[in-house]
Amino acid sequence: MNIMAFNGSPRKDWNTANLLNKALEGAASKGATTELIHLYDLNYKGCISCFACKTKNGKSYGRCPVNDDLKDVFRKVEEADAIILGSPIYFGRVSGEMASFLDRLLFQ
Ligand SMILES: Cc1cc2nc3c(=O)[nH]c(=O)nc-3n(C[C@H](O)[C@H](O)[C@H](O)COP(=O)(O)O)c2cc1C
Repeated sequence: MNIMAFNGSPRKDWNTANLLNKALEGAASKGATTELIHLYDLNYKGCISCFACKTKNGKSYGRCPVNDDLKDVFRKVEEADAIILGSPIYFGRVSGEMASFLDRLLFQ
């Protein structure tokens, strides 16, 4: 079992990261391979609405074509059995980094 966790907080050792680390520790204790990715370490922007991932018979169908730090991350997500998302609440919603990440991840 391969489990990836994503931290949508700028802090690497506060509430969100602690909760994610606890979840990953539990998974690792049952034999899972785990990885924690801090979204604030990555350079990326939100979805550019190019629709390349939606263009049937196009070379990027089903995949985000934007060439930034999320490219390798999305490849890893394809191999993951589960992902865990963690974000602080900023003004009643997930952080901007998490929102941009989700737009890019989910649209494809
Ligand atoms: C810009 C900003 C907006 C926030 N808005 C909310 C909010 O709407 N509701 C809430 O309960 N907490 C809000 N908080 C508090 C954070 O969600 C809270 O401190 C959270 O535990 C931070 O997570 P972290 O320790 O992983 O960074 C806000 C904090 C910041 C910096």
